[in-house]
Amino acid sequence: MKRILLIVGGGIAAYKAAELIRLLKKRGHAVRCVLTEAGHHFVTPMTLAALSEDKVYTTLWDLKDEAEMGHIQLSREADLIVVAPATADLLARMAAGLANDLATTLLLATDKPVLAAPAMNVRMWGHVATQRNVVQLRADGVTVMTPDEGAMACGEFGPGRLPEPEAIAAAVEDALAPAVLRLAGRHMLVTAGPTHEPIDPVRYIANRSSGRQGFAIAGALAALGARVTLVAGPVTLATPPGVDRVDVETARQMADAVAAALPADAAIMVAAVADWHVVAASQKMKKGDGTPTFALAENPDILATVAQGPGRPRLVVGFAAETERVVEHALAKRARKQADWIVANDVSGDVMGGDTNTVHLVTAAGVESWDRLAKQVVADRLAQRIADALLGTP
Ligand code: C5P
Repeated sequence: MKRILLIVGGGIAAYKAAELIRLLKKRGHAVRCVLTEAGHHFVTPMTLAALSEDKVYTTLWDLKDEAEMGHIQLSREADLIVVAPATADLLARMAAGLANDLATTLLLATDKPVLAAPAMNVRMWGHVATQRNVVQLRADGVTVMTPDEGAMACGEFGPGRLPEPEAIAAAVEDALAPAVLRLAGRHMLVTAGPTHEPIDPVRYIANRSSGRQGFAIAGALAALGARVTLVAGPVTLATPPGVDRVDVETARQMADAVAAALPADAAIMVAAVADWHVVAASQKMKKGDGTPTFALAENPDILATVAQGPGRPRLVVGFAAETERVVEHALAKRARKQADWIVANDVSGDVMGGDTNTVHLVTAAGVESWDRLAKQVVADRLAQRIADALLGTP
């Protein structure tokens, strides 16, 4: 038995929440409902209370409940929070981190997984603002289901219908299922972030890599039970849970740290390694000394060294950030470096430092193009694919 806190938003699909409660109860779960003010217009607290066999919470300003059970406690004692229907307004407030009613306050205060089942008019779903909010929520770790397509109550047709209660109940079971530690006992080596190449003791050459995609991959692999060594260039990101982090600054330090971390079952080289280092001045360069010229020397290619060296990991994955002819360059890179896979990403937009990524997975089997996804979702998918490659498809 799991405890599910169901937030019912204000949309015509709110009536389906009644069926969802019934299905969840049938599966043996306890359901406690929160009804938003807008939700009141579509379904009554009485209906939800009768089906859930529990009190229904509706307001932040119920002094009796704040004394008996604060909203923090309400959000923490659940195993999972489900928002169904998640209206465009509710998704927007969640994405912005607002806490202006009981539902959003609970969502901001919780440390539990959140599953949202959207329902809204087709144009509202397709609006760039809603899509931006969905991308943000997924990047924040919220599971946002894709709405169903079909005829809508408003007379239009398209995506925006609440997924069927059966589908939401199945998504609830997935969200509650304990993570399958498919990579337990395996060692994964991940590089991430930029490198800094000193020019003199106070200056350096860098690039715009934020490290976010690599950190997300390291976290996703650790969540599958792997031992993960993350060799990180200079970034200010928090280390994902369960990841061993080695901080480096230069490409040469990164190469040394990678060599020291081997052997590994797989190496995933996400770092934006500088191709050259500067033959650096030992003292700070002074303006009066004339315009300096830099002598550059090539950095070791860490990916190629690992892919072609002794003790090669079974799976070597490289990244290719390109601004044009993305797949073509990736195919060439895969052959040149002898990587098993190249994850090609188009960095012509706001990818570097942003939350989303559009990638093409280039393997011996061909090229797979993924939709624009939150970097966290790219990481989770890639981690599963890595597990499939090492262990065979489940
Ligand atoms: O050659 P290019 O920099 O485009 O290749 C990108 C891929 O190679 C990335 O996976 C990156 O982490 C890796 N790389 C490396 N060492 C370098 C340059 C790139 O590991 N010196």
